[in-house]
Amino acid sequence: MRGLKNKVVIITGAASGIGKATALRFAEEGANVVVADFADGTATVKEVTEKGVQAIYVQVNVTDMENVKTMVAKAIEVFGKVDVLINNAGITRDAMMKKMTKEAWDAVIDVNLTGVFNCTSAVLPHILEQKSGVVLTTSSVVGIYGNLGQTNYAAAKWGVIGMTKSWAKEMAKNGIRFNCVAPGFIATEMVKKIPEQVLNEKILIKVPAMRLGEPEEVAAAFAFLASDDAKFINGAVLSVDGACTL
Ligand code: CAA
Ligand code: NAI
Repeated sequence: MRGLKNKVVIITGAASGIGKATALRFAEEGANVVVADFADGTATVKEVTEKGVQAIYVQVNVTDMENVKTMVAKAIEVFGKVDVLINNAGITRDAMMKKMTKEAWDAVIDVNLTGVFNCTSAVLPHILEQKSGVVLTTSSVVGIYGNLGQTNYAAAKWGVIGMTKSWAKEMAKNGIRFNCVAPGFIATEMVKKIPEQVLNEKILIKVPAMRLGEPEEVAAAFAFLASDDAKFINGAVLSVDGACTL
């Protein structure tokens, strides 16, 4: 990919799954990485630095604005700039609507929607001043098409698409780009929580690719959207889903 060498990327939720695969992919492209996660991200940092770039782990809770500001300040203190933010931290609290609690609603909205607002707000002054930057967010096919048991999650993942499109309209003139990736069902810890019968008999059966996606396949989409090869792509949603939504 063109233009990622020596860039500085903050990736939230980079301790595992899609975020970790994305950290490793950006390292292969020559970018320096801020591994930002509530969980321990030191193993990701080790693997990233083995690829010959620099990386730091910053513990962050994306729901906490002060925490998020500290994350961005730390990135700038160590690397002097931020070029790319990947809003990827996310959780599920699945339940059918008739059983969904207000707590489950609030928890998912706080992390998956407000967390994206918080991190983008904190990075914005720096990329506006720089007159360049890319903000990418992990949405989901569930945000576009809905899913049984995911009222809270679908609302948040559709919400981030609306935010992204609004930001693209507001700030394309400032040289900044905002895009979403909408993965289908990807082989990570998150999908392991789906009951086996539901996954095999209700979900995988509808995926023409007949398999779960790999985190690396999502990471490749992030690398493309952050690169100069995508420099006129703004406000877009790129599906990486094995055609499961056709
Ligand atoms: N798609 C289709 N059918 C589903 C379904 C789904 N996602 N989830 C549940 N069902 C079906 C079940 O197969 C079951 O059907 P039958 O009556 O024919 O057996 C019926 O709905 C009721 O399901 P349960 O008996 O499991 O009901 P429950 O109240 O005990 O549990 C639930 C409900 C918590 C939603 C549980 O079924 C569940 O966890 N389902 C999976 C939800 C899901 O798809 N989550 C995605 C997580 S991964 C992710 O979110 C990443 C991403 O972006 C794609
Ligand atoms: P994962 O569970 O492996 O990774 C999520 C990471 O987010 C974890 O490391 C977790 O510690 C971190 N996190 C959770 N809450 C946080 C918080 N408050 N602050 C900071 N970090 C926090 O799951 P996966 O699949 O890698 O998820 C990554 C993103 O991809 C999520 O936004 C998820 O919704 C999205 N996604 C996942 C799909 C899948 O099928 N696995 C499909 C579509 C989207």
